[in-house]
Amino acid sequence: MEIFMEMNFTGKTVMMTGAASGMALLSAQNFADLGANVVMIDINETAVREKAAEIEAAHPGHVLALTCDVRDYARVEACAKAAYDAFGSIDVMLNLAGGAEYRMLNVSYELDFPDCPIDVFDWSIDVNLKGQLYFDHAVMKYMRDQKSGVVINIGSITGQEGCDHNVGYSTAKSGAMNGLTKSLALYGAQHGIRVVCVSPGPVLTRPGMAGMKTPMGRAADPQELVDAFIFLASDHSGFTTGINILIDGGRDIARDKT
Ligand SMILES: NC(=O)c1ccc[n+]([C@@H]2O[C@H](COP(=O)([O-])OP(=O)(O)OC[C@H]3O[C@@H](n4cnc5c(N)ncnc54)[C@H](O)[C@@H]3O)[C@@H](O)[C@H]2O)c1
Repeated sequence: MEIFMEMNFTGKTVMMTGAASGMALLSAQNFADLGANVVMIDINETAVREKAAEIEAAHPGHVLALTCDVRDYARVEACAKAAYDAFGSIDVMLNLAGGAEYRMLNVSYELDFPDCPIDVFDWSIDVNLKGQLYFDHAVMKYMRDQKSGVVINIGSITGQEGCDHNVGYSTAKSGAMNGLTKSLALYGAQHGIRVVCVSPGPVLTRPGMAGMKTPMGRAADPQELVDAFIFLASDHSGFTTGINILIDGGRDIARDKT
């Protein structure tokens, strides 16, 4: 992170969903170290409060922990208001809550797509796609008023490749995410708001991701993704909007993915 120390986020407010773990938690730590006020949002109340308290200990007064199911728009709006009321602006929105439905809902991979209850796919589209649209919608009201802001949506290499089980996840993290990102970038450009999507390949937020092959022969360290979020959120990316960046160790171009 040393090279980013010049990217000072002092006085900026960075919101992230999924902040109880993984890349969102690491982002909260990084952005707080870079001077930002961080708003950590997760459905897991105990975990997000515990992790926020750890960051708050090093950055008193600069951390807000909020509980929210990203499927609940009223709660999403309340989170945006709470962030604005606490810190006076919403400068960066990082949409990291989510995951593949079979893993997140403990569905057996023995169940094929037509045999898996439809609720499972409803959950996945609601969390992985609509949850991002909901937060984008809620924060862009504030960003429009302040005439600045950066929204980072999260896709996945799985959206590029398809997946015979996690059909909802693949659907949400694919062209739908690109359409959402491009549409909001078009709208946001006239209001000083940039909107981008980052689509990771395998990231070692859990050991199992090491099993997904890349031409580079490894999965990403989570910091490699967070470094990209910081760069995209900074003014060094001031002319970057409406794009989807694959950060996947070359998996998308690999001939052998097995
Ligand atoms: N780890 C990878 O290899 C990888 C690859 C591609 C894309 N992604 C995507 O990046 C994002 C972050 O991945 P990660 O591995 O860091 O995450 P993670 O699995 O460590 O954490 C996800 C967080 O989302 C929260 N969450 C789940 N449902 C929620 C809901 N309804 N409302 C609010 N919070 C909810 C969970 O409580 C958890 O804290 C996810 O969207 C994931 O799909 C990850």
